[in-house]
Amino acid sequence: MIVLKSPIEINKRLNSFRERKNTIGFVPTMGALHKGHLSLIKRCKSENDITVCSIFVNPKQFNEAKDLDLYPRPIEKDIILLEQAGVDILFLPGNESIYPASYSQPFLNLNGLDNVMEGLARPGHFSGVAMVIERLFYYINPSKAYFGQKDYQQILVIQQILTQFSLDSELVICEIIRETNGLAMSSRNSRLTDEQLKNAGFLYESLLQLNMDVRTLPLSLAIQNAKKSMSHREGVKIEYLEIADRKTLNALETIDQNSEAIALIAVNYFGVRLLDNLFLS
Ligand code: PAF
Repeated sequence: MIVLKSPIEINKRLNSFRERKNTIGFVPTMGALHKGHLSLIKRCKSENDITVCSIFVNPKQFNEAKDLDLYPRPIEKDIILLEQAGVDILFLPGNESIYPASYSQPFLNLNGLDNVMEGLARPGHFSGVAMVIERLFYYINPSKAYFGQKDYQQILVIQQILTQFSLDSELVICEIIRETNGLAMSSRNSRLTDEQLKNAGFLYESLLQLNMDVRTLPLSLAIQNAKKSMSHREGVKIEYLEIADRKTLNALETIDQNSEAIALIAVNYFGVRLLDNLFLS
């Protein structure tokens, strides 16, 4: 695996692969890699000639300094995992090469996606994601980029940014990888104790129950029931639970067989934010 820190250098290297008609797949990450990331890499490798992974803990997308400080950074372990997974190039830029002194934030049109759910809960978060995506995709310009469905709202934001900046990479949405109890894998899970991890399957169970309930109950009542069943659990504070249209994230009041609905949830569980979602069927 080649490790490159300079954006100019990676851009040059990738151009030489492109000249040889190689397709480039990209898995952007903030490190602290888990099985979810490894499944993205596996899919990326199976669909592209060259697999590029980036690790960059993007300060601009953290709206709380404490969250940025606490973000896990097990870089040596990550490098071993990426080598074992067969990644061809690791892009490991420093803050100053992504955001040099000359960097000025471009105008970002997030199409209202920053005004709902994660956008409301974490002001400035999606602008930060948008900024780093514009930078990373500018240098890497992949044929395809791979994201886990867990951060669904983020995927829509990224799609919007690619459209705004006329970047023609294809986004591939990959299924959520879960622990055996159903908890969606996330780098933040490492901040839970073993006991908390063991009990955190309630989040996915609630989504599955909700998927059943919406078939017989009005949506508002199904949501209310799901919230009630979670809120009595120790350590749980529900931030939001919404049923929305998959393309726009506009909240839905009713659904029928033709609706393309998704349920999205965020809870604070013993101080750790957990996200999950489920396409309703
Ligand atoms: O999902 C993440 O890990 C990050 O938000 C991303 C897409 C790598 C941008 O920093």
